[in-house]
Amino acid sequence: MKTGLITIAYIAASALFILSLGGLSKQETARRGNWYGIIGMLIALAATVAAMNPSGWPILGGVVLVGALIGATVAARVQMTSMPQLVAILHSFVGLAAVLVGFGTYEAQFATGGPREGATMLLVEIFIGVCIGAVTFTGSVIAFAKLQGTISGKPLMLPGRHVINLLMLIATIAMGVMFVMAPGTSGHPFLLAATVITFVLGAHFVMAIGGADMPVVVSMLNSYSGWAASAAGFMLSNDLLIITGALVGSSGAILSYIMCKGMNRSFISVMLGGFGTEGGTVASSDGQPAGEVRSVDAASTADMLKQAKKVIIVPGYGLAVAQAQHSLAEVVKILKDGGTEVKFAIHPVAGRLPGHMNVLLAEANIPYDIVFEMEEINDEFPGTDVSWVIGANDIVNPSALDDPNSPIAGMPVLHVWEARNTVVMKRSMASGYAGVDNPLFYKDNTLMLFGDAKKVVDEILTAMR
Ligand code: TAP
Repeated sequence: MKTGLITIAYIAASALFILSLGGLSKQETARRGNWYGIIGMLIALAATVAAMNPSGWPILGGVVLVGALIGATVAARVQMTSMPQLVAILHSFVGLAAVLVGFGTYEAQFATGGPREGATMLLVEIFIGVCIGAVTFTGSVIAFAKLQGTISGKPLMLPGRHVINLLMLIATIAMGVMFVMAPGTSGHPFLLAATVITFVLGAHFVMAIGGADMPVVVSMLNSYSGWAASAAGFMLSNDLLIITGALVGSSGAILSYIMCKGMNRSFISVMLGGFGTEGGTVASSDGQPAGEVRSVDAASTADMLKQAKKVIIVPGYGLAVAQAQHSLAEVVKILKDGGTEVKFAIHPVAGRLPGHMNVLLAEANIPYDIVFEMEEINDEFPGTDVSWVIGANDIVNPSALDDPNSPIAGMPVLHVWEARNTVVMKRSMASGYAGVDNPLFYKDNTLMLFGDAKKVVDEILTAMR
C-alpha cells in the first residue's frame, strides 16, 4: 500500500517536472511553470521522507533545515548579474553528491558481501556516477571562480592539452575496468584513483575555456549534473531521481545547443576551448574611437522618441547593470499613451544568462505582447523610426555580418542600423563582452547617448513629462 502510494507520488512529481519545463519555455506561462516545479519538488520530498526509515528523520530534518536556510539566504541576496556564478556553484554540489552517493553505495552494497546478482551493472553505475559527478564538481567550481573573477577568465592553454585530456580519459576507463573486476570492496583504490583523475579532468577542461564561452559551459555542466543525479538514481534504485536527472541532463544539453546557435559557435569548438577574453567590458583597441561619432543629449532623444511613430528598443547587459528597467517601463508607457508603437527586440544571448532580458522586462511589468524574439522582429527595422539600443553592444554589432575576420563573425545580430535613426545608450566607447569594436557607433544614422542607463533614462523620462 505504502509502496504504491509512493510510486503514485513519484509519477505525479515527474509529470509536474515535465509540465514545469514546458511552462518555463514561454514567458507567459513561466510563473505557472515555476509553481509546477515547486509543487512537484514538495511532493517528491514528502514521498522520499515517507519512504525512508523513520530513524533517519531527525538527521534528515537537521540537514534539510541548514541547507534550506543557506539556500534561501543566498537566493534572496544574489544579484541577477551574479546568477551564472550561483548556478555554477549549485551544480558543483550535485556533482559532489553523486561522488559521495557512489562511494556510499559501494560501501553499503559490497562491504557486507551484498547482493552479487546484477553486481556488474551496479558497479558500472557507481563508477559512471562517481566520474560524471567528479567532473561536474571541479568543472563547476572552476566555472564559479572564473565568473566570480576569483581566477582569470583567460583560457589556460597547456601545450598538448587535448592529449593530456585523452590520456586522463584512457586512464579513467582502465581504472573502471579494474574496479568492476575487483572482488568485494577491493576496488576502492581504483575508484579513488578514477575520482582524482576525473577531478583533475573537470578542472583542466574548464580552465581551457575562455570567458565568452562560460555560459555555454555552465549550461553544459548543468546537463552533466543532471546525468550525475540520474546515475545516483540508478545506484539508489530511485526512479524519480533517474527521471529528474534525465530531464535536467537533456534540457541542459538543449540549452547549450541554443546558446551555441545564438553565439554562432559550434558545440565542439566550445568544448575544445581557447576562445574568449577575461570577460566583462574591454576598452577598444587603443581606447580611441575608430571614426567620427555623433552624440546626442537626453532631451533631444526624448523629442525624437516622442515624434517617432514606431520605436524598437534593444536592451542589453548595460540595462541590467544599471537597473534601468523600471524607469524604462514608464517611458514606454508615455510613448504608448502618446500613440507611438513600441516593441522590444530580444537577442537570444543578450545580457549574461539565458532569458536575462525577459526577466528584467517582466520585473518592470512590461507587457509580454510587445516583447519579441530576434527572428520575429529583425525584418521590422527598415520600417522603424528609432531603434533605441540600451546597454547592448555585441548583439547589435554589424561586423558579425560584414567582417569575416571578426571574432563574432557569423553570430546572428539585431539589424538596428536599418531603422531611420539609431540611438545607442552606453557610458563610453568601450567594447562589449566579446572585446571587439562596434562599427554601428560610427554609422551616419547612429547617435550616441553617453551615460549610465538608469541616469539617462531618468533624464529622458523627466524631459518627456
Ligand atoms: P555587451 O556586448 O557586453 O555590451 C554591454 C554594453 O553595456 C557594454 O558595451 C557597456 O558599454 C554597456 N554598459 C555597461 N554598463 C552600463 C551602464 N551602467 N549603463 C549603460 N551602459 C552600460 O552586452 P550585450 O550586447 O547584451 O551582449 C551580450 C554579450 O554577452 C554577447 O557577447 C554574448 O555572447 C555574451 N554572453 C551572453 C550570455 C547569455 S546566455 N546571455 C552569457 C555570457 C556572455 P560601456 O562600458 O561603454 O557603458
